[in-house]
Amino acid sequence: MQLVFATNNENKIKEIKSALGNEFEILSLKDINCLEELPETQETLAGNALQKAKYVSENYGVNCFADDTGLIIEALNGEPGVYSARYAGEDRSATKNMEKVLDKLQKSKNRSAYFETSIALIINKEEFLFSGVAKGEITKELSGKDGFGYDPIFKPNGYNKTFAELSIEEKNTISHRGKAFKKMCAFLLNKS
Ligand code: IMP
Repeated sequence: MQLVFATNNENKIKEIKSALGNEFEILSLKDINCLEELPETQETLAGNALQKAKYVSENYGVNCFADDTGLIIEALNGEPGVYSARYAGEDRSATKNMEKVLDKLQKSKNRSAYFETSIALIINKEEFLFSGVAKGEITKELSGKDGFGYDPIFKPNGYNKTFAELSIEEKNTISHRGKAFKKMCAFLLNKS
């Protein structure tokens, strides 16, 4: 089955290809010549995922899915949450976002946080939602070079490494998006 992943993030495309194996042919937005920025103006992760998937499904007539992820930090009352991408401003800099988090948590002993991903899937105009959570804590400094976004400052529970120090396969097994992808994959395999 061909499915469009409504994202321009090459890291996410790599992650899903590694998670789904050869069962599905995953196309990116570039592959269908969708070059515009997708609307993402809702106040929840599920709302944003559905908004992006609907846009692609309605404008390009394809079966597709979109994800939206937030980092929820307990000591910051759930920030940055749905605003994770633009936490330090409109230029979406991962380094500035991480610096802002570390700065705000400077005096905090409570470093608990979790990532949450919502995935919206649209198949033949029918909508389905999946979610996944990865619990862990925010480190005191950046560590590791792999991954993207907040990976260098997020240490998943049970590991002594940040997401940025894990291989893509290891991250997929325990990550928010990996878990949500797996649920979607099981659903798709069951359906076909
Ligand atoms: P979005 O869902 O792609 O809009 O991601 C929202 C924000 O969370 C962006 O700043 C991403 O870089 C960050 N983000 C999404 N997924 C991950 C992840 O797996 N690890 C670290 N940061 C992530």
